[in-house]
Order: sequence, then C-alpha cells, then structure tokens
Amino acid sequence: MVAHDVDVITALDAQLFGVDCWPRQLFVDELAAPKTRRYIVAEVATTSSDGTAGPARTVGYAGLMCVPPVGDIQTIGVLPEFEGRGIARAMLVELIEEARQRGARDVMLEVSSTNPRAQELYRRFGFEHIHTRRRYYRDGSDGLVMRLSLAGADGTETAGITTTGTKDPS
Ligand SMILES: CC(C)(COP(=O)(O)OP(=O)(O)OC[C@H]1O[C@@H](n2cnc3c(N)ncnc32)[C@H](O)[C@@H]1OP(=O)(O)O)[C@@H](O)C(=O)NCCC(=O)NCCS
Repeated sequence: MVAHDVDVITALDAQLFGVDCWPRQLFVDELAAPKTRRYIVAEVATTSSDGTAGPARTVGYAGLMCVPPVGDIQTIGVLPEFEGRGIARAMLVELIEEARQRGARDVMLEVSSTNPRAQELYRRFGFEHIHTRRRYYRDGSDGLVMRLSLAGADGTETAGITTTGTKDPS
C-alpha cells in the first residue's frame, strides 16, 4: 500500500466496517511508520472493452504492526464480490511471513464475535482464541483476541500456517 492507494482503501474500509471503519488519516499515519508497519493491497487485473489489459483494480488490503516479539494484524478486508477466492488467505500468508522475518514470536489479532467467516479464516492458520474483550466494537459486539504462535514447542521456528496456497482469483 502506498500513498495513492489511501483514498480507495478508506472507501473500501468504510464499506466493509461501517461504524468501525478507520478515518483516512489513520491509514496515512500507518503508512508513515514503515519501521513497525507493513500494509499491502491485493489487486486483480482488468480487461478493457477492447480486450486489452486495463488498470489493476484494488480489491483488498491488510496491515501489520510488528514490534518484536509480537506482530499484530491491524486490519484485513476484501471486496464482497471478490470474497471466497483466497485473497485474504494470500494476504495473511504474506503478513505472517513479514512478522516472522521481523522477529515476531506471536502474531495477534482481534475479530468480532459476530464474524464467523473471519474467525474460520484465522483458525485455519492456527490462530487460537485466547481472550474475549466484552463489547470491544462500536456495534456492541465482543472482540475475540486470537494468537498464532510462530515458535514450536521446543522453541524452534515452525511454519505456523496450514494453508495450502492461494486460489485462482479469476
Ligand atoms: C473475512 C474476509 C477478509 C475473508 O476474505 P476472503 O478473501 O473471502 O477469504 P479467503 O477467500 O481467503 O478465504 C479464506 C478462508 O476463509 C474462510 N471462509 C471463506 N469463505 C467462507 C464462508 N463463506 N464461510 C465460512 N468460512 C469462509 C475459509 O476458512 C476459507 O478457507 P478455504 O477457502 O480454504 O475454505 C472477507 O470476508 C472480508 O473482508 N470481510 C469483511 C471485513 C472483515 O470482516 N475483515 C476481518 C476483520 S477481523
């Protein structure tokens, strides 16, 4: 994600998160802190009416904050019409690897108790529900705190990811 993505991402975030969306300036601030942050966008190719390649379309985004030994998935979202194609999974693979390379031992995130789809996505990566924050979200729902340990029981690094790869987004 770079500065010129911010308007598109702010609009997408409002569409996906409603009252819990981020103000534009928050994305600007996050992008201004690359030492501890990494934000990415997912793009798909488009085709113009004449059959030639059109501009890439931004269909998803995700962000990581990492202050070792802990990484935090700050946000993740995919346009509704592009859901179920492995786009979120692909972004999570990238950010978890980024956290690992930056020295994280654990990756944390919060997910709404009313969002079983996202919970399932995280569970498939090995995230475990470790704590509940009552009425954490502005819509009144609870926040489930989930943790993925990147270290094996013997202290060695493990893959920590049970995904089998990304789906074809076509
Ligand atoms: C949650 C969200 C990011 C998932 O994005 P996505 O690109 O559709 O997810 P993927 O296609 O990568 O799916 C990955 C996994 O999610 C789960 N999943 C996907 N669709 C699902 C569905 N209809 N029902 C239950 N689980 C589902 C599955 O575990 C799936 O793995 P699989 O494809 O091997 O079955 C997306 O739905 C979204 O942006 N929702 C609104 C914003 C949001 O809730 N963000 C998360 C906040 S914590």
